Amino acid sequence: SGFPSQLKSGLSKVGVPTGLLDFLFSWADAPENYPKIPEAKGAISAIQSEAFFVPLFELYLTYGGIYRLTFGPKSFLIVSDPAIAKHILRENSKAYSKGILAEILEFVMGTGLIPADGEIWRVRRRAIVPALHQKYVTAMINLFGEATDRLCRKLDAAASDGEDVEMESLFSRLTLDIIGKALFNYDFDSLTNDTGIVEVFLLIPFLLVPVIREQAVYTVLREAEDRSVAPIPLWEIPIWKDISPRQRKVATALKLINTTLDDLIAICKRMVDEEELQFHEEYMNEQDPSILHFLLASGDDVSSKQLRDDLMTMLIAGHETSAAVLTWTFYLLSMEPGVMAKLQEEADSVLGDRFPTIDDMKKLKYATRVINESLRLYPQPPVLIRRSLEDDKLGDYPIKRNEDIFICIWNLHRSPKQWDDADKFNPERWPLDGPNPNETNQNFRYLPFGGGPRKCLGDMFATFETVVALSMLVRRFNFQMALGAPEVKMTTGATIHTTEGLKMTVSRRIKPPIVPTLEMPAFEVDKPVGVP
Ligand code: HEM
Repeated sequence: SGFPSQLKSGLSKVGVPTGLLDFLFSWADAPENYPKIPEAKGAISAIQSEAFFVPLFELYLTYGGIYRLTFGPKSFLIVSDPAIAKHILRENSKAYSKGILAEILEFVMGTGLIPADGEIWRVRRRAIVPALHQKYVTAMINLFGEATDRLCRKLDAAASDGEDVEMESLFSRLTLDIIGKALFNYDFDSLTNDTGIVEVFLLIPFLLVPVIREQAVYTVLREAEDRSVAPIPLWEIPIWKDISPRQRKVATALKLINTTLDDLIAICKRMVDEEELQFHEEYMNEQDPSILHFLLASGDDVSSKQLRDDLMTMLIAGHETSAAVLTWTFYLLSMEPGVMAKLQEEADSVLGDRFPTIDDMKKLKYATRVINESLRLYPQPPVLIRRSLEDDKLGDYPIKRNEDIFICIWNLHRSPKQWDDADKFNPERWPLDGPNPNETNQNFRYLPFGGGPRKCLGDMFATFETVVALSMLVRRFNFQMALGAPEVKMTTGATIHTTEGLKMTVSRRIKPPIVPTLEMPAFEVDKPVGVP
């Protein structure tokens, strides 16, 4: 009603065709026929202060499952509703791209699998997914065990010396060592390497062994995280790149990583050329089971730039995420001794002193539930980013193309509408004999690995990795918050970090007696040698 409709009826009376009038006045009708997305007001100052998804949760409680957040000329749609998340991620995923995420990460991931869209993504996903086959994952379990064992030895020394340990950085080293081996058979050896200051890169020409120190990787990671929360993209200003010491450092680190990856690719190519192994579905080189080796042996026809982009993408995807999961799991456990005791009991009875095997993955049920629950409370990343490529409808609301959208996994995972006692760390909410919770059986209220075609391809890898590390660590040690440790607060990057680390006191557990299992031929073992 109002002026537009008076004008419309007036024009109709003077003979303008109704079809044309409907078209001309559709803009005026729209707000009447369609509900408008609620707009969150006065949020900007709040957003700058803390981990940015915390105020988004407060606004969700006020404005509901979809609302608009405006910063000057820019606005974002904040989605915290399972049905809308499902629509964007699965039902109409073709209509969405990675948007600002791709723009922010371009400098480090290029057109790697996470930022890539369209045809490049399709081709690369099809090439890479087969590399994570059953036999590969089985081999990786040994790798998880060996790397965790190195961490155990470090903790053992700390326990002897009565020194507190900062677990967040140790977990970061653990998962870096693992992902380097898993992706391109490269040993960062960051757990045994403590220096971590001086040279970023050391090339030993006569051996042709490039040694990349984790420093370069960290420089780039920090930069990616800072860029994702920076209000102004300073790094896009040409001169800034050359004069800012920090941007120069980033550029050097990137060059270094590229050279190193090129060298690793070249070494791997030579290995593939020399080996006799026939390529098949579950192809794996025992000496080098890495994903890179699989890709090269499969005859993956791809530029070395794209291959580098994909490796770098997976290095980042698989490193910080798993480290953050372990960090927050141990933080949660420090407040729930009952859960810890149950976890230790399971590790004792399933593993004893052994390294975990693939068969144990089915048996370490409680450890798996602890990880499931940790991922509910601390999803990594806490927010998924998308941009609409065409007009669409989200719930009741029509939206235009080019909308930037945040799917708030944090909100979904902590919604009082979705969960009983939403903030409580309660692994028991997932029955041991039930299915492993995932986005499908939880109907998109639980999205630890995303969903739809862009779902994480490392989900099984990451679950086994964290279950192995968790079980082996709690089997050997007790963990407590260190006396006088800084309060554990969250800060945001791509994943959720602590502001000042996770300082813990680690003590050796007194080994419980290993109860003989049925398979053990007890009477033969007991019989003293030489006695008739
Ligand atoms: C994508 C979580 C470990 C490789 C994703 C997504 C999530 C996620 C939520 C979806 C992103 C989106 O839709 O925008 C996690 C968590 C991990 C983990 C919580 C650890 C606990 C890994 C590992 C790898 C990996 C170990 C590699 C071996 C990828 C890749 C994608 C992805 C390549 C992009 C897939 C695509 O777009 O087709 N991850 N991830 N992730 N993840 Fe993971």
